[in-house]
Amino acid sequence: MLDPVHKTGLIHKKSDVYYYYQVIYIQVNLKKKNGEKMRLGIISALHEEQQGLMEAMLDATTTEHGGRVYTQGQLWGIDAVCVLSRIGKVAGAVTATLLVEKFGVTHILFTGVAGAGDAGIAVGDIVVADALVQHDMDARPLFPRFEVPLTGLAYFSSDHAMALQLLTAAHGFLEHDFMEVIDAGQRAAFRLAQPRVHRGLIASGDQFMHDPAVINALKVALPGLVAVEMEGAAVAQVCYELGIPCAVIRTISDNANEDAATDFLTFVSAVAANYAFYIVRRYCQALAKHGF
Ligand code: ADE
Repeated sequence: MLDPVHKTGLIHKKSDVYYYYQVIYIQVNLKKKNGEKMRLGIISALHEEQQGLMEAMLDATTTEHGGRVYTQGQLWGIDAVCVLSRIGKVAGAVTATLLVEKFGVTHILFTGVAGAGDAGIAVGDIVVADALVQHDMDARPLFPRFEVPLTGLAYFSSDHAMALQLLTAAHGFLEHDFMEVIDAGQRAAFRLAQPRVHRGLIASGDQFMHDPAVINALKVALPGLVAVEMEGAAVAQVCYELGIPCAVIRTISDNANEDAATDFLTFVSAVAANYAFYIVRRYCQALAKHGF
């Protein structure tokens, strides 16, 4: 039987453009039938992106390993392990590996902020990855740009069921929680009039994007790009290699242009934690109610 990633992430190259598409399978039902129990690993790069989740955990215990603190417990009925990866692809990859190999998680969710990857995406919008690519992977002329050498893959798919559940949670947050938890001052300061939810391609690299020329070139090279960040695609590669379903949800903190650093810092400290907390709460509550 094919593993879930193959089923949901077939990648094809046509001319010089990579296309990814998704095939929906009965992965959710298979897992339920097999009686598998979910243990959810939740990664964020920074404290502000995960604030509140650890305090909300019931029966929490902490373990320090490799310079990170892993907090295990129950989040709204879901067995979970929360950890801060710090920033960058290696940080994300080692954290994901340890979550699986040492802490026994069955699924990984990455939640945090990102720069906008398209002109139609604004600060305060939410993006859910369909697929992820390492935008700084470039082993040309040995391999095509973006392809991870010797895997034959440039794009790593999110788990389809997880992505759909996150989209539902994100819509629920914007419809029911947003006006209550993001106060009028914050909405005005960040011009968060009517935030929207998007799905698409997220590109990760060891680079904080702040040059309009760089982000514009990347948009051309990666059709369907919705966001840029620094960990997601590395986590997705680890999950692909270990056969673990994973998903990435990001709130847009900046436009990846010359204002990116200022916008990022103010957004992360003022608003990001509320988005993450209420979206993850909705996601866990739905899982606890309907299964996975
Ligand atoms: N995370 C948030 N904003 C970002 C940006 N502009 N570049 C890379 N990662 C980010």
